[in-house]
Amino acid sequence: MPVEVADRLFEELNAEAAQVGADVDRFFEQSLQSEPDGRERLFEAMRHAAIGGGKRLRPLLTIAASRLFAVDRARALRVGCAIEAIHVYSLIHDDLPCMDDADTRRSKATVHKAFGEAEAVLAGDSLHALAFEWLADQATHEDPWVRSDLVLELARAAGPSGMAGGQMMDLDAEGRSLDLAQITRLQQLKTGALIEYSVEAACIMAKLPEEARTPYRGYARNVGLAFQIADDLIDHGGDAAAAGKPVGQDADAGKATFVSLLGEDRARQQARMLVDQAIEHLSEHGEEADLLRAIARFAVERDH
Ligand code: IPE
Ligand code: IPE
Ligand code: MG
Ligand code: MG
Ligand code: MG
Repeated sequence: MPVEVADRLFEELNAEAAQVGADVDRFFEQSLQSEPDGRERLFEAMRHAAIGGGKRLRPLLTIAASRLFAVDRARALRVGCAIEAIHVYSLIHDDLPCMDDADTRRSKATVHKAFGEAEAVLAGDSLHALAFEWLADQATHEDPWVRSDLVLELARAAGPSGMAGGQMMDLDAEGRSLDLAQITRLQQLKTGALIEYSVEAACIMAKLPEEARTPYRGYARNVGLAFQIADDLIDHGGDAAAAGKPVGQDADAGKATFVSLLGEDRARQQARMLVDQAIEHLSEHGEEADLLRAIARFAVERDH
């Protein structure tokens, strides 16, 4: 790709990411208001985790894919915020002492450090429930079948066949070495499932027929895997200040990652190859898919 095209794509991505970041913050700001009735700490804990940080990759994917299919942006944003709520809940629980035991997240204290463990568990529980409440609301889509499908597929992506199942595999593999197929499956569940749903949700809202979804599923699958490899590379050799979270914890905990299996250079090569494949899936599209292409590149060329 010529340098000037790459620069233009990154500018477009930065502008869109800033807009989505502001929109997601506003949505959480409005949705997470408490009465002074004994739940203030719960709402404060949720707001601490959800507002003002993170790359907002998942809502960005939903909005970028929705644009391809001319889905209304406000609806795509609601769905993106539901996915982000699940993601934030997964981060709050991932950081707990019983899991990865991390003190910082998004350049702030983790929720259990700032508010306590019980509050962190409940903030995660609440964000999990709110995600489904937002999806099932009529404002998300006028067609109840579409809403039901959005709920069903998010439940699959977040539960034992998706993120939570992958987190279990991640803990189970500590101190053991997995082969490439096993690590791929672990990461596809742990991180890939929610990223795949971020694109699938746009297909659901657009009522795209099953057979038309194949390229977008291929794209999202490759981006999801590449994204987690980049995360593992940041943990391996990245900078904690830039990342906004601790680094070096995967090796200390004996986590099974692409980096532990392949080494840094081959893991990076693998991530770049996955991005090329992701972009290949969009070959039927012209400039209208440029944002999705730029997101795929960003998924690996990042330091946070
Ligand atoms: C971190 O996710 C955990 C993974 C699933 C890799 P992100 O890298 O998307 O974290 P934020 O949302 O930008 O903080
Ligand atoms: C966590 O993966 C994925 C989740 C489902 C939260 P990691 O444990 O590698 O994520 P970080 O590095 O703490 O963000
Ligand atoms: Mg973890
Ligand atoms: Mg972690
Ligand atoms: Mg990590």
